[in-house]
Amino acid sequence: MILVIGAEGMLGRDLMALLGERGQGVDIAEIDITSLESVLQVISARKPDVVINCAAYTDVDGCESNTEKAMSVNGEGVGYLAMACRDNNILLVQISTDYVFDGSKGVPYVEDDAPHPLSVYGESKLAGEMNAGFSPEHLIIRTQWLYGIHGKNFVETMLRLGAEKDELTVVDDQVGSPTWTVDLARAIIALVDNGCRGIYHAANSEYCSWNGFARAIFAEAGLEVTVKTMTTTELNRPAPRPLYSTLDCSRLEKDTGFQPQSWRSALKEYLSARSLL
Ligand SMILES: NC(=O)c1ccc[n+]([C@@H]2O[C@H](COP(=O)([O-])OP(=O)(O)OC[C@H]3O[C@@H](n4cnc5c(N)ncnc54)[C@H](OP(=O)(O)O)[C@@H]3O)[C@@H](O)[C@H]2O)c1
Repeated sequence: MILVIGAEGMLGRDLMALLGERGQGVDIAEIDITSLESVLQVISARKPDVVINCAAYTDVDGCESNTEKAMSVNGEGVGYLAMACRDNNILLVQISTDYVFDGSKGVPYVEDDAPHPLSVYGESKLAGEMNAGFSPEHLIIRTQWLYGIHGKNFVETMLRLGAEKDELTVVDDQVGSPTWTVDLARAIIALVDNGCRGIYHAANSEYCSWNGFARAIFAEAGLEVTVKTMTTTELNRPAPRPLYSTLDCSRLEKDTGFQPQSWRSALKEYLSARSLL
């Protein structure tokens, strides 16, 4: 049995749907990963073969002013899960982020590149990666720019704003790969089913800027919106972001045979799935 922690979140819900009867899910109502006692109690009651941790404090700007909470949920909490997995011979799968990198490499990051987070969120997620190592059986999956039907995300924000306004300004100097949570869930399952261990990158293929992504969303949705450009410096958010954090996913493809579709075709699939709701 695969136990998904953070099963009510954006990724967790799509993962649960794909796992079907193989999966059980818990979220903050049943488990608090910042409490070792809570973690031990759930793990010993459920007795999973695999734990996939999708729980996190994901408010990137909020983390800047809540360092303690960020380190507690994204760092220490993963350590508690890892200790419980170590003591019960369970594989721990930890979901991590491109924000462990500083974005200065200029070409896609591979798994062995040295991390250098710019933000509290990135630092806390890197602490989580290191703490996952307490479990001898661990798999760390870094991903980026997630959107999915069950969470607040950039696509939904653009669709809402695009219905209200005919002109928007979106940053064009951050480059990455928008990734549909269903495709990430497929990649996670492929990695688990192929017995993979260590660090992997998983994201939809090809890349764009947030500005390019916004233009694609409006084009696919048939919305006529003028998208103007701005820089990250002009946007002036509390947390610094890596400017170029595209992830090289060739290790995933080589070890599982799973080839993530392009971000553009994933976006089309997402919009058509969403229109059926
Ligand atoms: N979203 C992205 O763009 C992105 C990019 C790269 C990596 N990731 C990583 O991908 C994973 C999934 O992200 P997501 O966007 O699906 O996250 P999400 O929607 O925010 O879901 C996280 C879930 O974890 C729960 N949770 C928070 N603190 C918890 C705790 N102490 N104990 C147990 N559960 C707790 C949350 O409950 P509440 O809602 O009640 O807090 C929520 O249901 C995370 O590890 C994230 O860091 C995300």
